[in-house]
Amino acid sequence: MKILFFDTKPYDREAFDSTLGEFENVEITYLDAEINPQTARLAKGYDAVCLFVAADVCENTLAALGECGVKLVLMRCAGFNNVNMDAAKKFGITVMRVPSYSPEAISEHALALAFAVNRHIHKAYIKVRENNFSLMGLTGMNFYGKTAGIIGTGKIGASMCRACHGLGMKVIAYDKYPNPSLDFVTYLPLDEVLSKSDLISLHCPLTDETYHMIDFSAIEKMKDNVILINTSRGALIDTNDLIRGIRAHKFAGVGLDVYEEEGDFVFENLEDDILSSSVTARLLSFPNVIVTSHQGFFTKEALAAISRTTLENAVSFERGAPIKENIVI
Ligand code: NAI
Repeated sequence: MKILFFDTKPYDREAFDSTLGEFENVEITYLDAEINPQTARLAKGYDAVCLFVAADVCENTLAALGECGVKLVLMRCAGFNNVNMDAAKKFGITVMRVPSYSPEAISEHALALAFAVNRHIHKAYIKVRENNFSLMGLTGMNFYGKTAGIIGTGKIGASMCRACHGLGMKVIAYDKYPNPSLDFVTYLPLDEVLSKSDLISLHCPLTDETYHMIDFSAIEKMKDNVILINTSRGALIDTNDLIRGIRAHKFAGVGLDVYEEEGDFVFENLEDDILSSSVTARLLSFPNVIVTSHQGFFTKEALAAISRTTLENAVSFERGAPIKENIVI
């Protein structure tokens, strides 16, 4: 099976190369280029393409892949909200993903953001490097004894619930389908989770229903000095409303691994460029906001699991028995 990988970085190649030996008859070609309707044509002669989370898998791209005879899109990630599912169906292309690779990779990053904004680690690091040993502006709060509100308690949210419970927090949650294994969690309606939590962490997928679920009216319901963490998808939060809330001094801290405009920047080094978006620039200007560039998944364990499952997906498809739970469409 010949697979063309788009938008690869050295760490992708390293992870896949070290797993490839376990799979016979799989050939990989790595490209730096992102996929679009033009570059998709490079897939002629390949059985499958392998794409990452920010790839814009629109109808024209899928049409071009279909014309090249590609039958399989392998998403080397869990999220698939950028894939036009109707178009994939129309062009007879199967889409497979890696639904679970290491929930702890993401929940630990959510915790890292929560700790960092709470104790102002981003500011403390810079201050001490500048010989400023003053503690002014660095007051945080104990998480112990406070309330964590987890929105979405699937694989990652459940891991976050366990971590917060381990810290001695009271854990409340909102999910359309409560997770019965979390017997220490109290499920409440969304508004109550918003109004009772000291730390709110988002872990539900982006759907029509969850789009902008955190808008200004949701922010108004939150406690003053709440900490808000989003490692799920940027568009769960209305960024302009978030900025309004930050300006109204609602938040002790905001930690974002994902944000609405990340598609334009994510995984790229733009240090010599001028940001085209004033919304992201404004977000970056606040002292109580930490933004990371979609790195929640980025641990050695997660990369190894992603490459193994992606190649298992490819081989299972070739054998005519694609792994059912990994099929998106
Ligand atoms: P999952 O499918 O195991 O859990 C999602 C949970 O959200 C489920 O329990 C579901 O019932 C719940 N849910 C669905 N619609 C809801 C709604 N309207 N309101 C409340 N809850 C709702 O997914 P998993 O693996 O836990 O991933 C969660 C999200 O994390 C993914 O959708 C993805 O967006 C994000 N993610 C972020 C990564 C990063 O690097 N920052 C990496 C991997 C995933």
